[in-house]
Amino acid sequence: MADRMHEPPLPASGVSGVGLAEGASRVDASALVQVHDLVVQFPVSSGLRRQMIVPVDHVSFHVKKGEVLSVVGESGSGKTTVARALIRVLRPDSGRLVFDGKDVTRVRGEALKRYRRHVQMVFQDPYGSLNPVQTVEQHLMLPLRIHRRPGDPPISQQLDEMLQVVGLTPIEETRRKYPHELSGGQRQRVAIARALAVHPDLLIADEPISMLDVSIRAEILELLNQFKRTLGLSYVYITHDLASARYFGDRIMVMYGGRVMEEASAAEAVENPLHPYTRLLLAATPGSGVTGGLPETSSRPPNLLSDRTGCPFADRCPLVADECRVHTPELRRLGDGHYVACHFA
Ligand SMILES: Nc1ncnc2c1ncn2[C@@H]1O[C@H](COP(=O)(O)OP(=O)(O)OP(=O)(O)O)[C@@H](O)[C@H]1O
Ligand SMILES: [Mg+2]
Repeated sequence: MADRMHEPPLPASGVSGVGLAEGASRVDASALVQVHDLVVQFPVSSGLRRQMIVPVDHVSFHVKKGEVLSVVGESGSGKTTVARALIRVLRPDSGRLVFDGKDVTRVRGEALKRYRRHVQMVFQDPYGSLNPVQTVEQHLMLPLRIHRRPGDPPISQQLDEMLQVVGLTPIEETRRKYPHELSGGQRQRVAIARALAVHPDLLIADEPISMLDVSIRAEILELLNQFKRTLGLSYVYITHDLASARYFGDRIMVMYGGRVMEEASAAEAVENPLHPYTRLLLAATPGSGVTGGLPETSSRPPNLLSDRTGCPFADRCPLVADECRVHTPELRRLGDGHYVACHFA
């Protein structure tokens, strides 16, 4: 969808491929989106002590054109923080973001604006992300106006086409509606249409169906799937749910405590999970058929403090050994495109 012909280029990349940590070496240097060794920290206070937490700790991945990367993990695993760094709402503390061959880690001003046009986000709460005093038409007019390209049909026609594409009919009636007059699924369709209006290449969908009625979740996922096929759109699909990660994703990346625990093709991750945490997630997925779920030893949330050592999952892991509390396991390649961060996988 990108129309870079009419845009000045983003700043040149300094990508050299030198000095990457082990986990980053699996990043495909030709992929549309490359995330190398991303670190995000936040200051936290406990009593008089000021410490840092690291909700994103040396995370690397790539997304190819037309590909869906599902990012799975329970609450607090760092999924949204990765997404916020990726759309550059927050600046990474270290690491590198490369989009379409250009380093966008530290771009500012106009270059940042141009980058954001290529990368859009759809949020969990479709009501919270829409303006209650704006009609559907008003939500879509602004991005359509700003991002007009030479040869585009009249805006009103574009708007109708957009509503048709996301299944918001009857069009005339829907155009004049306010968010409160729409169902949750219809509101999410408006949010998706608004994101598409700027012709992005990557859509980050952060739990886009988890607040919707179960009956319409599949419809929204199918809609997103359709844009993968028809527009060649790439996705980072964030979810708690391995079943939808499998259905929609080409690959699955499992996060825990800010680190990547496992990455594999969607089928492999679900049919042959190797990390104890992925097995635990799968065993908790209704209908997954997984019987090898391991008993949890604790439900303590992970320690995110910057001075932690060892594997973030150690406190809950049934396979834990002394080594796990001392040495942080790096991602190791254990199969074709299958990476696992566990000393004992
Ligand atoms: N601005 C911030 N300041 C301090 N801590 C933060 C900030 N943003 C996120 N965190 C912390 O970072 C950790 C990861 O948060 P994040 O929202 O990325 O998790 P998540 O995987 O998206 O969880 P969920 O599934 O609940 O959405 C959490 O412990 C959160 O409290
Ligand atoms: Mg989140």
